[in-house]
Amino acid sequence: MKKLFLMSTMCLLGTLGNVLRAQNRTHVLSSDRTSLVVTTNDGGTAYYQYFGPKIKESDIRGFFGVQSNYTGNTLPLFGMYSSGEKALAVETPDGHMSLDLGMQNLERTDDEKGELLILTFKDRVYPVTVKQYFRRYKDTEVFSTWTEITNQAKKGNVKLLTFASACVPLTRGDNYLTQFHGGWGCEGRMSEERIPNGQSVIADKAGLRNAFGANAGFMISVNGKPSENSSEVFGGNLLWSGNYKTKIIADNNSLSVISGINEETSTLTLKAGETFRTPEFAMAFSQEGKGGVSRAFHRWGRKYGLAHGDKPRDILLNSWEGVYFNVNQEVMDQMMADIASLGGELFVMDDGWFGDKYPRDNDHTSLGDWMVCKKKLPLGIEGLTEAARKHGIKFGIWIEPEMVNTKSELYEKHPEWVLSQPNRPLIQGRGGTQAVLDLCNPKVQDYVFSITDNLLTENPDIAYIKWDCNADIMNYGSTYLPANEQSEIYIRYHQGLHKVLDRIRRKYPDVVIQLCASGGGRMGYGLLPWFDEFWTSDNTDAYQRIFIQWGASHFYPAIAQASHVSASPNHQTGREVPIKFRFDVAMSGRLGMEIQPKNMSAEEKEFSGRAIAAYKKIRDVVQLGDQYRLISPYDNGSVAALMYADENKGHAVVFAYRMDYLHNQSVPKVRLDGIDVDKNYRIKDLTPRNADRPCNLDGKVVSGRILKYAGLNVSHALGRPWTSVALELTAE
Ligand code: GLA
Repeated sequence: MKKLFLMSTMCLLGTLGNVLRAQNRTHVLSSDRTSLVVTTNDGGTAYYQYFGPKIKESDIRGFFGVQSNYTGNTLPLFGMYSSGEKALAVETPDGHMSLDLGMQNLERTDDEKGELLILTFKDRVYPVTVKQYFRRYKDTEVFSTWTEITNQAKKGNVKLLTFASACVPLTRGDNYLTQFHGGWGCEGRMSEERIPNGQSVIADKAGLRNAFGANAGFMISVNGKPSENSSEVFGGNLLWSGNYKTKIIADNNSLSVISGINEETSTLTLKAGETFRTPEFAMAFSQEGKGGVSRAFHRWGRKYGLAHGDKPRDILLNSWEGVYFNVNQEVMDQMMADIASLGGELFVMDDGWFGDKYPRDNDHTSLGDWMVCKKKLPLGIEGLTEAARKHGIKFGIWIEPEMVNTKSELYEKHPEWVLSQPNRPLIQGRGGTQAVLDLCNPKVQDYVFSITDNLLTENPDIAYIKWDCNADIMNYGSTYLPANEQSEIYIRYHQGLHKVLDRIRRKYPDVVIQLCASGGGRMGYGLLPWFDEFWTSDNTDAYQRIFIQWGASHFYPAIAQASHVSASPNHQTGREVPIKFRFDVAMSGRLGMEIQPKNMSAEEKEFSGRAIAAYKKIRDVVQLGDQYRLISPYDNGSVAALMYADENKGHAVVFAYRMDYLHNQSVPKVRLDGIDVDKNYRIKDLTPRNADRPCNLDGKVVSGRILKYAGLNVSHALGRPWTSVALELTAE
C-alpha cells in the first residue's frame, strides 16, 4: 500500500535505468515532508532521481528499475553527446567550446542555513571546474541549488556563455504552469495554463525592476489544474535581483525546468583563477496544492529570505499619496500628529524633501542631491525626528540612491557616473531627466553607500528607509568597465548593489528598509534578504489590490507586502470604495496608510482608529502565521476570501470581500481550510462599520468541522456592493 502510494506520488524526477552500478552513490536530503534524491557516479555525472514527498533511504532501492528512460542530469553540458537545452556552456582560453566534466569530490556538510551536498566536477581536458550545491534549508520545506564555475587556467580567459543555476527534471503529465505577469500598477497578475510541448519561457530583461513584466516565482502542477490545498505542485523561484530566464521544456515524455540569470547579451569572462557563483534556485514541492507551496515559501521567506522576518512590523503612514512632493515641516508635523492619534506607530516622509540648488518639487530634478531642502524643512531632518518623538511614533524617510537626475548637482559633478553610451545621446527616464548610476564602478558604490550611511549616522533616530528605484537600464554602457567587459553590466551592476547593501546591513542591521521600485517592480527574493518588505504596488485601489496581493502571496509572505489604505476616489483608478473595504484589504498584508488624514471625514477617522486597534490584535497572525487562500478572485467573480492561522491554529483571521454585486447572485460559503477541525472557534467581527453593529457572525461559537466542511455563510455580511468582513477566530 505504502509502495503504491509512493509510486503514485513520485511525481517529480524519474530515474536512470542504469543507476546503481558499483561506483554509484545515492544521496537523500530530507526535510519533514520532502526528499531530494541525487545519485552520483565517481569520476562521472550526477543525476536527479526524485524530488517529492518524503521517502526513506531504504525506499530508494526498490525505486530504481521501475523508473526508466530518464535523463535527469543535474548539469547538462554543451558540446559533447549533446543536443537540447544546456545548463552550462563555456569557451576555454584556446577557443574550445565543449565541456566534459567528471565528478572529483563529494561533500556532505551543514552550515547555519541547513544541510549541503556539494559535488565538485572537473573537465577531463580543459581548465574548468564546477562545484554544484544542493541545500536543504533547515526547518523549512525549501531546497535550493546553484553552481560555482572556476577558471583554473594559469593564464587566459574562460567565457561563460550559458550558466543556469538549475536544470531540474519534473514528471511529464497533465502539467499546468502558474505564473505571474503584469506591469506598473498591476503587478503579479496570475495566469494558469496547461503546459504545451515545446518551450515556455518566463524571463526578464529590464535590468533593474525585474518583477514587473514577469515574476521569478512560478508553480508547476503534476497532474491537472492545481488546486489550493490538495494537488501535487512544484514551486520554483530564482533568487536574483537582475535579469533572469526560466525555460520550461516539455515533450510527450519529459518536462524540465532550466532557470538562471538571463544570459542573453550577458557573456561573462572569468580571468585566470576567477570563480563565478550563480544565484540560488529555490524550490519546494507540496501535496497540499499551491497553498502548500506558498506556505513553504512564506515560512522560508520569513526565516531566510527577507530581513527580520520574525519581527512584526509597525503600522505606518506614508506621505506620498497624501501630499506628493509638497512636503514641509508643518505638513509633516500635522500628518505625524494625525497618524499618532489614530494609533499608528511610524511616519514615513516620501519623495520631495531634498535638493538644495535644485529643490525636488517634481520628478524632473534633484535625485542625487541628498541634502535637505532648507526652504521646505528649515529644521532639517532633526526637526522631523524631534516631531516624531513628540508624537510618540518612529520616523522613516524615502531615498532613491541608485538614481540621478541630469538636473542635479551630482550629475553636474559626475556625469561619468551614469550608465551611458559614448557617441549616443543619453536616454532619460522619469521626468525626462532620470538616469541610472553605474554601480559597476566601486566609486559609485561608495557614493551610494554614503547616502544611507550619512543619513543614518547624522540622524540615528531614522527607523525606516524606503529605498526606491524608478528606472531600468535604459543606456547599456559603462564608462568604468573596459570594452571587453561591457557585456557584464547586467550582472556587475547587481554584484555592486549587493556589496553596497552588505555594507549597509553590516553597519545598520536593525533599520527597517522597504524595497520599492515604482511599486512592486522588485518583488522578489533577489534583494529581499537585505530588505524587510516591498511596496507591493503603486496601485492602492483596494479592489485591484485583491488581485495584486493574491498574486504576490504565491511566493511572498504577508509580512513583506506593504499594503496601504488610501483615499477614495482612488488616485490610480478613480474607484470609490468605503473605508471599511479599504481597511479589510490592507489588513490582509502589512497594514499602513497612504493618505492625507486631514482630508478624511470624522467617520473615516473614527473607523481608522478602530481598525488600527483591531489590526494590532491580529498582526502576529497575519504577519507570522500560515496563509490559506480560500476563494480566488480569479475563479469567482463575486467573492474573494483568504485566511491566516497561527501555528497551532488556535488564533485565526478570515477576510472576505464582495467584488461585484448583482441582486440575488449566489455568495459561496467560505470554507476555512486553515482551521483545526477538532477545535471550536469564537468569531469576532474585527471591523464593524458601526462600532455597535457587528455583523451577524459576531459572537457565534462554531466547530472547526463546520467551518471547514460546511463553511462560513457570509452572504448576510456581504449583502451589498463593496462590503467585506475581517473576522477573528479564537479557539475556545
Ligand atoms: C515611486 C514609488 C511611490 C513613490 C514615488 C515617489 O513611484 O513607487 O511609492 O515613492 O516613487 O516619487
